[in-house]
Amino acid sequence: MKRIVILISGRGSNMEAIVQASAHEAWPARVVAVISNRPQAAGLAFAQAHGISVAVVDHQAHADRPAFDQALADAIDQHQPHLVVLAGFMRVLGDAFVRHYEGRLLNIHPSLLPAFPGLHTHRRALEAGCKVAGATVHFVTSELDHGPVVMQAVVPVLPKDDERSLAARVLVAEHLIYPRAVRWFVEGSLCLQAGVVRQLEGQPQFLLAQPSGSVLATG
Ligand code: GAR
Repeated sequence: MKRIVILISGRGSNMEAIVQASAHEAWPARVVAVISNRPQAAGLAFAQAHGISVAVVDHQAHADRPAFDQALADAIDQHQPHLVVLAGFMRVLGDAFVRHYEGRLLNIHPSLLPAFPGLHTHRRALEAGCKVAGATVHFVTSELDHGPVVMQAVVPVLPKDDERSLAARVLVAEHLIYPRAVRWFVEGSLCLQAGVVRQLEGQPQFLLAQPSGSVLATG
């Protein structure tokens, strides 16, 4: 049984989607811990209610980034995870931390990377007049919101969209692609070679949303 540790900073809806999928689809893995850098992160309550070990490593309680990163790594490593999943974890992680988890650290970012790394992705996509937006699951490297792409979801940008409506449409897609990507990892069906990730069974590594947002198609 593979062990997954999930890091959150807030709502934790992607974490919820992964916990639910891992239970309902009988993965060869379970989420053993959810760790937040914010004591008030709403997602902690969900994890606790599902019998998952929770912890807070408050970034404000540490003098600098290396000290925070070390405390975070100590909390994670207590659980000896095969995979660490960043799910709305809003702290930049240093090189040493990223190297320590190389090849077993996934992130989701609400844009079609390499477009719009960083904050305010939906606002920037709207300002740029993009006609599609989306989300990317990727292996983490020391460059922010960058790294080998595991899966992407593409959603339309509609003429009446504002940041909120676009974020909501992207989030629906996030909840579909992140559990799928994590499942592939724990099942051993991802191959990372020369910076490119392949799904070994040939499953489509993208998902396209219909304008309604509710009907989604892959392949
Ligand atoms: C999600 O949209 C996720 O893609 C984004 O934060 C949100 C967290 O929501 N992550 C980033 O922007 C990371 N750069 P959640 O807490 O409900 O999963």
